[in-house]
Amino acid sequence: MRAKLPVLVIALGLAAAIAVVAAAQSTANGLPSYTNGYQRWPKLKRIQVKGPNPHVKVKAVYVNKRKAGKAWPVGTVIVKDIVSPGDSFISQVAVMRKVKRTSPSGGWVFVEFSRSNATASYGLLAQGATCTGCHSLAKKNDWVFRAP
Ligand code: HEC
Repeated sequence: MRAKLPVLVIALGLAAAIAVVAAAQSTANGLPSYTNGYQRWPKLKRIQVKGPNPHVKVKAVYVNKRKAGKAWPVGTVIVKDIVSPGDSFISQVAVMRKVKRTSPSGGWVFVEFSRSNATASYGLLAQGATCTGCHSLAKKNDWVFRAP
């Protein structure tokens, strides 16, 4: 019995470590953990570059960092959440995350999630070229239509 205890301790430790890794990748609601707490971040309000807009719904846009000069720093996450007309819950979340300083796509990774009701978890809706083709219109503004 005594000899088995360390094995149990190691097994529990491993299980805890796996749980932590899983939590770092996505939250319980299916959104990636880098969006955690986004509704407490400052908002982007002013539209600086006009463009055809696919997200024509009630929305709010949040950002976790401050713009440094003309560009947003690596690590910037911009989250736009969307409520469809007639709905009382957020059904879509569009995210831009700056992972590099330069191209492709200005170093941004684009991904959008959706869900069918207020308690469902989010799943992947669209990403990549679906987004960048249009956002390239805002290339001069670091691929972002809005300004702080
Ligand atoms: C047809 C053009 C178009 C496409 C396609 C498009 N966007 Fe946008 N997006 C816009 C416009 C215009 C705005 C600014 C107006 C607003 O916030 O609604 C915007 C705003 C955003 C913002 C807020 C930051 C900003 O640029 O102002 C995010 C985040 C975003 N889009 C993510 C995405 C993602 C992710 C996709 C792909 C799944 C996508 N967009 C596809 C036109 C587009």
